This record gives sequence, C-alpha cells and structure tokens, in this order.
Amino acid sequence: MMMVGLSSHTLFFSLLLLIAILVAISEGRSVYVRNDLGNGIVLNIHCKSDDKDIGVQTLNYQREFNFPIKAKICKTTIYSCTMTWNGRLHVLDAFNSKRDGKLGGDIKWSIQNNRPCLFNSSTKKYDLCNYSYI
Ligand SMILES: *[C@@H]1O[C@H](CO)[C@@H](O)[C@H](O)[C@H]1NC(C)=O
Ligand SMILES: *[C@@H]1O[C@H](CO)[C@@H](O)[C@H](O)[C@H]1NC(C)=O
Repeated sequence: MMMVGLSSHTLFFSLLLLIAILVAISEGRSVYVRNDLGNGIVLNIHCKSDDKDIGVQTLNYQREFNFPIKAKICKTTIYSCTMTWNGRLHVLDAFNSKRDGKLGGDIKWSIQNNRPCLFNSSTKKYDLCNYSYI
C-alpha cells in the first residue's frame, strides 16, 4: 500500500515536471513579422488569438516586430493576423499549433505582395514561400 502511494506520487510529480518543461519550451517561441512589401509601403497589422490580443502595429518598409506565443497544451492555438496595405485587406494565420507544432523555434514571416514567406534557418533566407494569404 505504501509503495503504491509512493510510486503514484512520483508519477504525479514527474508528470507535473514534464508539463512545466513543455510549457517552458513552448513559451520560449515567438512569431516575427517583417514588412517586405516595398519602399514606402506601410503595413498595418493586427494579430490575435482566442484569448490574447497583440494590438495594432504599424510597420514601415523593412521593419519587423515580434510577439511571444502562448500555446495551449491541449487545444489548437491560432494567432491570426489581419493586415492592410495599399488599402487592401489580407489575413495570415501567423501561428497555428496544428501546422507549426507546439514546440520548436521562432516563426519568422516576410510579408510580400503576392504571398508570405517563412524564414528557413538552414539557408538563412525567407525562401519557404508555399503559403498564401486567406
Ligand atoms: C531549408 O532549406 C534547405 C536547403 O534548401 C532545405 O533542405 C530544407 O528543407 C528547408 N527547410 C525547411 C523547413 O523546409
Ligand atoms: C505547396 O502547398 C500545397 C498545399 O499546401 C501542396 O499541395 C504542394 O505540394 C506544395 N508544393 C510544394 C512545392 O511544396
């Protein structure tokens, strides 16, 4: 009886520790967004998730901003960004835990006219461009 009690306690605290580590890793991630639209084009961007509003940002050409990801352990987390430039509206899911995984490194977007591109840490370039605006 005593042994059972001890081992279930150990299991419980191991689980707690594991969850704490997972939270710590996922909370270390950030989303970066960079305006690569062209000289003189201003990007207005408003990102938010179900329960976190990042607020409206105004980015001049070649400027970047970032925000930390607060991902849920058991639920899909999506940070959706509404963007306007040249008077037109575009939407990008800047982070989606189903698409991007709950763990991993930062997510860096280059906002371009036709499509957004992701930073590839191997090539150090924004060359992952198989994405589109919604
Ligand atoms: C980054 O680029 C390298 C070299 O082109 C490629 O092999 C790799 O698959 C790319 N990374 C991702 C995440 O697609
Ligand atoms: C680009 O994405 C589409 C849909 O997500 C996929 O069907 C296609 O194979 C991808 N193309 C490349 C070159 O990765």
